[in-house]
Amino acid sequence: MAIGRPKRVGVVVYRGSLGQRLNAWRKRSPLNPYWLDWSKLRRSVEDLSEHASGVLLDVGVSEGPYRSLFEAKVERYVGLEYPPSILDKQPELWSILDRAKQSVDVFGDGNLLPFATDAFDTVLSTEVLEHLPDPARCVNEMARVLRPGGKLLLTVPFSQPLHELPSDYYRFTPSSLEHIVRGAGLEVGSIEPRGNFASALGAMQSQWLLRSFGAKSRQSDGSVILSRWRSTLLLPVTACVQVGFHLMSKWTNDTTVCHGWTVVAHKPVDA
Ligand SMILES: C[S@@+](CC[C@H](N)C(=O)[O-])C[C@H]1O[C@@H](n2cnc3c(N)ncnc32)[C@H](O)[C@@H]1O
Repeated sequence: MAIGRPKRVGVVVYRGSLGQRLNAWRKRSPLNPYWLDWSKLRRSVEDLSEHASGVLLDVGVSEGPYRSLFEAKVERYVGLEYPPSILDKQPELWSILDRAKQSVDVFGDGNLLPFATDAFDTVLSTEVLEHLPDPARCVNEMARVLRPGGKLLLTVPFSQPLHELPSDYYRFTPSSLEHIVRGAGLEVGSIEPRGNFASALGAMQSQWLLRSFGAKSRQSDGSVILSRWRSTLLLPVTACVQVGFHLMSKWTNDTTVCHGWTVVAHKPVDA
């Protein structure tokens, strides 16, 4: 089957208004209550991108937050999304659907990938495995579509509030990840923590403050609808909490609690 869209030949950079640019800057600063979590994940995925090559499959691509990061390193980037989970979003979340649709190249199920064996040089999947009732089945499929010598790049959460309910089944440890990845016939290169006890605690505190004092209602999928004024008033508080714990994270190497885990594995060349 034909996979992926033609490679882009040019990129138009839209700079937006001053307000939009300020908002984009705020999202990348501690004034974003999710900054600690987001920045650790972003850094991990940047590190993972160094391992990418050839034709890459992103399983559970959603809005494709890392597409531009990887497109610079690979020949072709193929984003796969699972129709039931993306199309069954609550109506109030449908505004993101158009963006998600634009980033999806193929609709399919991670448990039964619609690709030939050995089709990809790299398989990437970020923050998806916790949403599958049988994550090992999906990793087996990822291993199948990888060519011998190809790399599997994963991120999974460890300390994260429940999200995308009811499809939030697991949190992972290095041992469970090693078990699943080896069980799929792959060799584990590294399993690294994302952040440490202090940064994860800061991220959780910031989210707890926002959810407890900045929200006007809770959604059935685990997310909250924020009160505009209360959540804005909380921003300096969540910023201070995050910066404080970020600084404390420099003085600890305890990773028995962390934001999540990053896995690099490869398919043996003689597989
Ligand atoms: C937390 S989101 C992560 C999205 C994106 N990878 C990221 O890092 O922002 C989990 C994603 O997994 C997708 N997903 C859930 N079940 C899936 C399945 N069986 N096959 C492929 N993707 C699935 C969901 O549609 C959703 O986009």
